[in-house]
Amino acid sequence: MKHLIDPTDLSVQEIAEIIALAEDIIANRDKYSEVCRGKKLATLFYEPSTRTRLSFTAAMMELGGNVLGFADAKSSSVSKGETVQDTVRVINCFADIIAMRHKVEGAPLAATEISRTPIINAGDGSHSHPTQTMTDLLTIKRELGTLNNLTIGLVGDLKYGRTVHSLIKAMTRYENTKFVLIAPPELALPDYIKRDVCDRYGVEYREASDIESVIGEVDILYMTRVQQERFTDLEEYERVKDCFVLDAEKMRGAKQHMAVLHPLPRVNEISIDVDSDPRAAYFRQVENGKFVRMALILKLLEWQNDPERKFDHGGEALGCKCPNPLCISNLEPVRPRFERVDDVVRCVYCESKANS
Ligand code: CP
Repeated sequence: MKHLIDPTDLSVQEIAEIIALAEDIIANRDKYSEVCRGKKLATLFYEPSTRTRLSFTAAMMELGGNVLGFADAKSSSVSKGETVQDTVRVINCFADIIAMRHKVEGAPLAATEISRTPIINAGDGSHSHPTQTMTDLLTIKRELGTLNNLTIGLVGDLKYGRTVHSLIKAMTRYENTKFVLIAPPELALPDYIKRDVCDRYGVEYREASDIESVIGEVDILYMTRVQQERFTDLEEYERVKDCFVLDAEKMRGAKQHMAVLHPLPRVNEISIDVDSDPRAAYFRQVENGKFVRMALILKLLEWQNDPERKFDHGGEALGCKCPNPLCISNLEPVRPRFERVDDVVRCVYCESKANS
């Protein structure tokens, strides 16, 4: 069974196929208006969303299919204590494909262990958001015409920002990618992304302390919100929330072809005076999200029983415990799974470094 839990569940070739299909959908909308007739998508959203849930809904509707699900776990039997795996066993009786967002890291991966239908991770805690990455890749391709030879500035909350983690994982596989990391020390990129992703694949990155000094060298400026909901210490949130703000004055230093992306929602990290700049691509990015999700639904339904399509997160118990209190392995009865990468053991569900 092919699922999408992490961007690396898709090969570069599979990503290219999805992007090509999304571009064909954009050019030939009518051709796809009935292709999912009789199919049902379940959207299981345990955490708030506007874009991801509604773009999945619009995507399935534009393919001629139907959508069911919940937008708030409190209105489902989750509020009575039902586990993720039991919920998915039930939804398997009603739907052909499932998109799940959960605040618990690794919850969508736990769902794949028992699901009879493809699972799409629509965002799990601070960990991963692969369909946002597919949206970002389609947007970069449409804005700049290529996914190779790009310098990408990542700004804001690089610690809790799951869209950043997934985008870095995806972009390391393209030629000559470089990253510039612009974050306060409290919100620096996690070690596992620097070490196990960038260093492992030989991708160049450097840290910068402001937007102004680097805006002239980047092809993509990827802005992110400082996410209040991930902080346990609100004083720390207040200290860092307005660290980096992009405005029209700073845009003067950017390349003519540079594109500003943001997964949205924004709070005040992009001033509204940037919105009218042709390089502000973040609302075009939202629409690309619907088209790429249409392509993804079609491809996962097509690939689900193809033995050539790989999906394997591996891992074994190894006598370890995950230290992350927000990991599914500490919150629900799932089988602990750990993997050794070089000399480090990591939890397969959330990628935290394990306590042995
Ligand atoms: N980009 C994104 O995931 O937005 P939502 O939280 O509104 O789905």
